[in-house]
Amino acid sequence: MRTTAPARTRLRLAGALATVLVAAGVVTGPAAQAGEQHGKQRTLAELAQRHGRYFGSATDNPELTDTPYTKILGDEFDMITPGNGMKWYATEPQQGVFDFSKGDEIVKLARKNHQRVRAHTLVWHSQLPDWLTSRTWTADELRPVLKKHIQTEVRHYRGKVYAWDVVNEAFNEDGTYRETVFYKTLGPGYIADALRWAHQADPHAKLYLNDYNIEAVGPKSDAYYALAKELKAQGVPLHGIGLQAHLALQYGYPTTLEDNLRRFARLRLDTALTEVDVRMLLPATEEKLAQQADWYRDMTKACLAVRRCVGITVWDYTDKYSWIPDFFEGQGAALPWDEQLRPKPAYHAIREALG
Ligand code: G3I
Repeated sequence: MRTTAPARTRLRLAGALATVLVAAGVVTGPAAQAGEQHGKQRTLAELAQRHGRYFGSATDNPELTDTPYTKILGDEFDMITPGNGMKWYATEPQQGVFDFSKGDEIVKLARKNHQRVRAHTLVWHSQLPDWLTSRTWTADELRPVLKKHIQTEVRHYRGKVYAWDVVNEAFNEDGTYRETVFYKTLGPGYIADALRWAHQADPHAKLYLNDYNIEAVGPKSDAYYALAKELKAQGVPLHGIGLQAHLALQYGYPTTLEDNLRRFARLRLDTALTEVDVRMLLPATEEKLAQQADWYRDMTKACLAVRRCVGITVWDYTDKYSWIPDFFEGQGAALPWDEQLRPKPAYHAIREALG
């Protein structure tokens, strides 16, 4: 459409006036409140970056052919975690034979989207290859196997990942060591060894211990606090504690989360919420979704309140690809986007907390 000169002047003046009113806080419509920029809503990543944090999502290789899914994955987040592709069963399916194709695919996609990668995980009792679980090991046999696995994988991703979950889920609920093949064969020192070996292989990667049910202060998070303190005192390269935060509405919100994050910060450790989801007993109702939104909001606020809480990762972003229904019968709807990739109240609550 052509405009006359006086009309163009009027339009320019109107535009300038609108800018001044928004800047002065006089105009506070939904667009202005949501932090819209040139008509485009800021992403979770952009909102988090304004606080010096990241906002991430897990993903998995089979999902990457789903174009509407990868579009949101690429747009909204600035940190990606492979949900399975970097685990031992995937990366060393036969002893000494390494396969990084799954992790590489995700790292490549993340690079294309200018996203960083939280790598997961080097030492875990679950999803181990058969060759490792189907026999017994002496300490002298297992030590070099563990060292080789860690160093080959960390070296492969050297300079390409921001952080590693070096040891995953090392403790029981009561704070005793989990009796994994690593603990039983090598003793508790396997954790310090794993951290040292990983650090040798990539001195710039942030090294984490990661676990679930450690969001609140309690026996399990106390065990991490004590271990972290000891490791720091010994000069072991530990940089952060990952709180998975797989929450469930029926078990209550971890109200001491912020205090817990703070005590790790006082040990000069980073923290991160690494696998966030909030499941519920199905069917999902409006009420449950509202409560879920409150929990996402509160978790986000808790992280923002503690300087060393560096970021939040949801354990995939959509109910379409959540692990929950497969593991907890009758439960689900745990993520901020629904199965049709539509944002849920939780998504808006996160935005509000980051706002
Ligand atoms: O690869 C096989 C495939 O060949 C087969 O057809 C299919 C049939 O079920 O199974 C596939 O393996 C599944 C694997 O994910 C890859 O998709 C396993 O059955 C399934 O058990 C496995 O679940 C993963 C789970 O870890 C295992 O404990 C989830 O995707 C993954 O999201 C989940 O992630 C863990 C974190 O690593 C650690 N914290 C807890 C979190 C949730 O369990």
